[in-house]
Amino acid sequence: MEEVQWALIAGSAEGLGEAFTTLLAAQGFNLILVDRGREALEKIERKVVKEYGIKVTSLCVDLGEQDAWKVCMDAVRNPESRLRDPGSGVQNEGSGIQDGGCTMLVYCAAMSEVKPFLNHSSENLERFIDVNNRTAMLVVHAFAGYLRDQKKPGKILLMSSLAGLMAPVYITPYAASKAFLISLARSLYYELKPYRIGISTCCAGIINTPKFLESRAQGDIPMADPFRVAAYAIKMCGKKAVCIDGFTNRLGYFFISRILPSAFSSYFVNRAMRKMYPTFSR
Ligand SMILES: NC(=O)c1ccc[n+]([C@@H]2O[C@H](COP(=O)([O-])OP(=O)(O)OC[C@H]3O[C@@H](n4cnc5c(N)ncnc54)[C@H](OP(=O)(O)O)[C@@H]3O)[C@@H](O)[C@H]2O)c1
Repeated sequence: MEEVQWALIAGSAEGLGEAFTTLLAAQGFNLILVDRGREALEKIERKVVKEYGIKVTSLCVDLGEQDAWKVCMDAVRNPESRLRDPGSGVQNEGSGIQDGGCTMLVYCAAMSEVKPFLNHSSENLERFIDVNNRTAMLVVHAFAGYLRDQKKPGKILLMSSLAGLMAPVYITPYAASKAFLISLARSLYYELKPYRIGISTCCAGIINTPKFLESRAQGDIPMADPFRVAAYAIKMCGKKAVCIDGFTNRLGYFFISRILPSAFSSYFVNRAMRKMYPTFSR
């Protein structure tokens, strides 16, 4: 009997999240969509149900909230309980399709803001930790434990950034929070392997998303297409702990990390940031 799997996407309605949602729906996953924007969430839900005939459970949740990971896990354990219309989609009872449960987690949402470190409030810094790290780690812990207990193989994809590898100026809390995810995936990659759980983090360069455009970067900046980045991240998930999207980014990172002395690397990375955000330069 054919099995249909569920995937949970945290930060699923817009930008890169919308690309993950669309691509996983096209692959036939039923989806648990988590996002804080109710309208955007309803819009993407309608789109994928109509186009791909899948089941979708939507959770309007702020991932910075204390209990966000518990809300996600309730849906993982019982994805159908929150279906708006249990009869939606093509996978009706008796269709010969069995529910394989939730076996994939994509943590895509992030708090990001470009400004000098000292201009952040302490509340703002706490939010970076809550959204990008606290909820991410708790949901990874609970989700991996759930897969292990169910004896199910599965995949976990954490969306990171080249910033987490390169640590440029003006995005310090963001870059540090992304470095955290890289470290988390690196060590868990080997720890979770015996349970047939593949975990990866994808480090992307600049992506053409509403969030990046909001930052008002100056200059003619090459931006990756979100659908291409999401397709690469999905393809690589479980194959390598850390994957870098885009040949130019991989080459650039090779030079910066292996060829140039670190002071030169930082100089070039920071000069690029200062050009993009000249108002912060002193
Ligand atoms: N864009 C880039 O240039 C770039 C480069 C490298 C890596 N990345 C990484 O790629 C991922 C996606 O980036 P993105 O540019 O698409 O922006 P994003 O702000 O992460 O947006 C993705 C979705 O997540 C939602 N979201 C954000 N914070 C949330 C929260 N606290 N609770 C629930 N939902 C939340 C967003 O809703 P709202 O619209 O309401 O915020 C949006 O629908 C992030 O992890 C980011 O670090 C992005």
